[in-house]
Amino acid sequence: MKALILSGGKGTRLRPLTYTGAKQLVPVANKPILWYGIEEMAAAGITDIGIIISPETGAEVKSKTGNGEKFGLNITYILQEQPAGLAHAVQVARPFLKDSPFVMYLGDNLIQQGDLKSFLDKFTQQQPEALILLREVPNPSAFGVAKVDEKGRVLQLIEKPKIPPSNLALVGVYFFSPLIHDAISLIKPSARGELEITDAIQCLIDQQQQVVACNLDGWWLDTGKKDDLLEANRLILDTCLTKSILGDVDTKTQIIGRVQIGAESKIINCTIRGPVVIGNNCYLENCFIGPYSSIADHSTLIETDLEHSVILEGAKITGIQQRIIDSLIGQRAELTIAPRRPKALRFLIGDDSQIELT
Ligand code: G1P
Repeated sequence: MKALILSGGKGTRLRPLTYTGAKQLVPVANKPILWYGIEEMAAAGITDIGIIISPETGAEVKSKTGNGEKFGLNITYILQEQPAGLAHAVQVARPFLKDSPFVMYLGDNLIQQGDLKSFLDKFTQQQPEALILLREVPNPSAFGVAKVDEKGRVLQLIEKPKIPPSNLALVGVYFFSPLIHDAISLIKPSARGELEITDAIQCLIDQQQQVVACNLDGWWLDTGKKDDLLEANRLILDTCLTKSILGDVDTKTQIIGRVQIGAESKIINCTIRGPVVIGNNCYLENCFIGPYSSIADHSTLIETDLEHSVILEGAKITGIQQRIIDSLIGQRAELTIAPRRPKALRFLIGDDSQIELT
């Protein structure tokens, strides 16, 4: 059994963060989203992993993630020159996959830890040509959607339908036998110009091949957008964070609940109410850090109130007199109060940024 993790694409829905980095490397609870998928593979006992990368962000994905040693598995990087669809990614990965059955995992998806193994067991026991995971969603038109009969058999799969036949979305985790390669060779690009894996699975259904659908009961997040990313951050901090204080915390600081503070970080006169994770080499002074906040390495926060937010590496926030909530702040971004007159707002804001002022 092999695994194919997709970490290409342009990440348009997470701009501006993805102008400078891969969406799969945006951290959730201070760990790149992609790594959760890799760890799921390791936990399920899969040791041979191919990661699809793009020309734009491939080098960064590779240098951060490495050869798999730190996860206890082997990683092979496979370059997809164009974001020409999920089925195209499988085509490109054929020399790696050979005729092995495999699990395909979209690198920006997060599923509840430990869930993958049970589906893998089912796939290995039943040996269908494909096993797909379905999940009820409020906005099915944004996904691949399944029409199933009363016995749960899949009748039809449609990619991003305008009028969805159900509210059952295709989760970005699929199990395939090598027969999927034949199906992919039969499909044509969709209206959005991509070779859709949804169409390839539909092709298997049309050929009366066995396609099994399982409902995913644990949580699932497609972290492609800000609010989903914040929700993923909340869920991971809620379920996985354990207390650990490595940095320097002064006596005036109050720490409540599950809080992690990394090595070489300095915390002075702050109130930190967990779950909160603060990385290495951070400096926090006179701050309130509320629940569901993740602050990455090398960040500085002074006179700042923060809650339910994700702060990326090297960001600097000083003297903001209002509480910052529901926010995603990019690497090395600086947020500060103007010390000089005239009292006015002065900005240097990247393309596609979203700022709400009151
Ligand atoms: C892709 C698939 C879609 C699936 C979704 C899950 O969509 O094409 O069928 O429901 O992932 O995240 P995309 O993220 O490429 O729009």
